[in-house]
Amino acid sequence: MADDNGVTADEKRSRFAARMTDVLNYGALNLAMGLGYRAGLFDVMDALGGPASIDDIAARSGMSHRYVKEWLGVMVCGDVVELANGDDGEDRYFLPREHAELITRRAGSGNLGVYTQEIPLLTRCVMDEVLEGFRTGQGVAYDNYPRFQQFMGQLADAKHREVLVETFLPSVDKGAVVRRMEAGIRVCDLGCAEGVALTLMAAAFPNSTFVGLDISEEALQVARAEASAQGLTNITFRNQDAGAIDSRSELVERFDYVTAFDAIHDQTRPMEALQGVYALLKPGGCFSMVDIAAGSRLADNRDHPMGPFLYTVSLMHCMPVGLVDGGTGLGMMWGREKAVDMLQAAGFEDVDVAEIPEDAFNLHFFCRKKATS
Ligand SMILES: C[S@@+](CC[C@H](N)C(=O)[O-])C[C@H]1O[C@@H](n2cnc3c(N)ncnc32)[C@H](O)[C@@H]1O
Repeated sequence: MADDNGVTADEKRSRFAARMTDVLNYGALNLAMGLGYRAGLFDVMDALGGPASIDDIAARSGMSHRYVKEWLGVMVCGDVVELANGDDGEDRYFLPREHAELITRRAGSGNLGVYTQEIPLLTRCVMDEVLEGFRTGQGVAYDNYPRFQQFMGQLADAKHREVLVETFLPSVDKGAVVRRMEAGIRVCDLGCAEGVALTLMAAAFPNSTFVGLDISEEALQVARAEASAQGLTNITFRNQDAGAIDSRSELVERFDYVTAFDAIHDQTRPMEALQGVYALLKPGGCFSMVDIAAGSRLADNRDHPMGPFLYTVSLMHCMPVGLVDGGTGLGMMWGREKAVDMLQAAGFEDVDVAEIPEDAFNLHFFCRKKATS
């Protein structure tokens, strides 16, 4: 018996068996790549610049010969590293330049290697807690994610360092925001974490003043230390719940421009946070929300090239942290339509949604608070 597409049960079974083999292999490969990324092995192989022996790779990286050898077995079988014969008949290992450009630290904003750490890290932090969440429906608190903020810092660095000031900001409001930041305005970054984006902006626009808000004191301490190490005097950080900015707050109507990079969908009270943004802005002030490029209906994300990865990160982190204390638990894949609806419900009448140069993962939701007449 064939299904509507003419596929028989046997064909379906064997296709899925092949797919399951891929699932097991790629899951294992991701874990081993995450280890190699953290150990700096890709960077070392890239720097070696050609076929190298295990001895060379182990010596240059300071890692154990035996572990490196086993790891190279995964990398060669996974087609990440190429195998060559040395003049002495011994194996040599080579990371092609085209691969290195995507998985080493020098890859900058195009670095996919950094993401290989994400699923192993989340598994280590909260696999049991998320399983418990399946049973109870409860959220999983941020405290369960040790080193996650540090990892997010690495991601933010890869994301923002080469792109934010050179490419993203000049694209906002046809360059008007950059011109105003050059002249001097007040800018707030909501969910600033370790302050990577804000510090880059503060260094680039010394006439403007910058305030970072987050609820993670650990992340804020790193942010303050970095800003002070850079000698920046136009930047401050505050421990502030974005969902709790009420009309009496001294922050109300203090900002010309507010940004939120990947920081709305995992909040417990995202609607209140967006209303908080509206309150923070001066009349006529504008808001850039950068959030994941997805649709609000599962069917619209069915063919997303990274759908399983993004939904898994959401399942393991964004959704459970957003469910804490009876929170909304939007999840990372809340999608463009829902995001626009919520921005409008928060008071922003016109929401412009644009793709972001050099960032296929996110969309830029740009909106403005009504100017008083
Ligand atoms: C995914 S991280 C994004 C970090 C950073 N904006 C970036 O560009 O990578 C989300 C951040 O939002 C913060 N956050 C979560 N809930 C918050 C709330 N209610 N108020 C303020 N910050 C919040 C988290 O502590 C975390 O640092």
